[in-house]
Amino acid sequence: MSRKIEIFDTTLRDGEQVPGCQLSTEEKVVIARELELLGVDVIEAGFPISSPGDFLSVVELSKAVSIGVCALTRSKKEDIDVAAEALHHAKRGRIHTGIGSSDIHIKTKFNSSREKVLEQGVWAVSYAKAKGYEVEFFAEDAGRADLAFLAQMVEAVIAAGADVVNIPDTTGYCLPHLYGKRIQYLFEHVKNIHKATISVHCHNDLGMATANTMAGLIAGAGQAEVTINGIGERAGNTSLEEIAMIIRTHKDLDLHTNIVSERLYGVSNLVSDLMRMPVQPNKAIVGANAFAHSSGIHQDGFLKNSENYEIINPSDVGVPTSSIVLTARSGRAALKHRLELLGYQPSKPELDQLYEAFLTVADEKKNVNDDDLMTLAANTPLLVQK
Ligand code: KIV
Ligand code: ZN
Repeated sequence: MSRKIEIFDTTLRDGEQVPGCQLSTEEKVVIARELELLGVDVIEAGFPISSPGDFLSVVELSKAVSIGVCALTRSKKEDIDVAAEALHHAKRGRIHTGIGSSDIHIKTKFNSSREKVLEQGVWAVSYAKAKGYEVEFFAEDAGRADLAFLAQMVEAVIAAGADVVNIPDTTGYCLPHLYGKRIQYLFEHVKNIHKATISVHCHNDLGMATANTMAGLIAGAGQAEVTINGIGERAGNTSLEEIAMIIRTHKDLDLHTNIVSERLYGVSNLVSDLMRMPVQPNKAIVGANAFAHSSGIHQDGFLKNSENYEIINPSDVGVPTSSIVLTARSGRAALKHRLELLGYQPSKPELDQLYEAFLTVADEKKNVNDDDLMTLAANTPLLVQK
């Protein structure tokens, strides 16, 4: 039977850490409602102790949605107390607490020892668990942690009551096959691992966040931590739309999510607009060029059968249609197609004549638009609009 992957969206926490992208509580509520309609399972709503604004956001999001709402904390009593208070109205509240697990974090960030951080993490999980919410533990910088120590930590926090254990590649350092092996190692060495859900949380510093997340899911992780448009600290987090569409496209993986993929493009635009953060045009799934074809060879093949060059139907992600962009790299097939859409039916000699004129315009302009084509057609004797 196909395995369900829980989608944990951290657009409003890790995503919102992008400089200049801070949102008001009202804007967060608008996005959270859309994420619920999109089918995400849990929303990470903020880090309540970090500011009154983040506290208020967790309170308001808890009231606004019925899906899981998660609040981030350090392994500190005051953080957990404040998070528990902020989650009071949540229908399904979760406290996300944790501590560093790599030697570099333990020594140079906490000035501590493996034994002490382990003890602190276990204490934080027990303390959070007593508040009555779901508890997720993050082993920060797990991507660079000593594996045997990481396994010891995961086993101890599960024994303390963690429902979910997050194995973050905080610095985006891992290679996909090695991150996958890390998750596999935990499944093979942590005795109580089946009592918790293992979660993957990857950063994109080397452009491998999506590949690493997939490697972790294939190795057995049951939750993916993602953001809309892949926004997040530094080079960003794993993109929700990429994970959802990889899982949907590769049926052979035998995985599924609850994501309503037809809503992806709309949510992407909403987040981009409210955060004033444009989506790069070549971004997979939701970028402006994700379904645009511009070279002559591709356009010809696409017009014969869209599956020659598209593995996703644009309507499956809410993009109204594919586009044929007319540039100096376009061929006669694309030009004819565009003219036909405008109501012209050029004969072969008419098309040849138009194509020469088209190339001259295309060399001067980046894109040739419909107005340019109408002008060209008007200057072609005998060619009439039907
Ligand atoms: O990247 C990371 O390690 C995090 C944790 C706080 C979960 O964002
Ligand atoms: Zn992160």
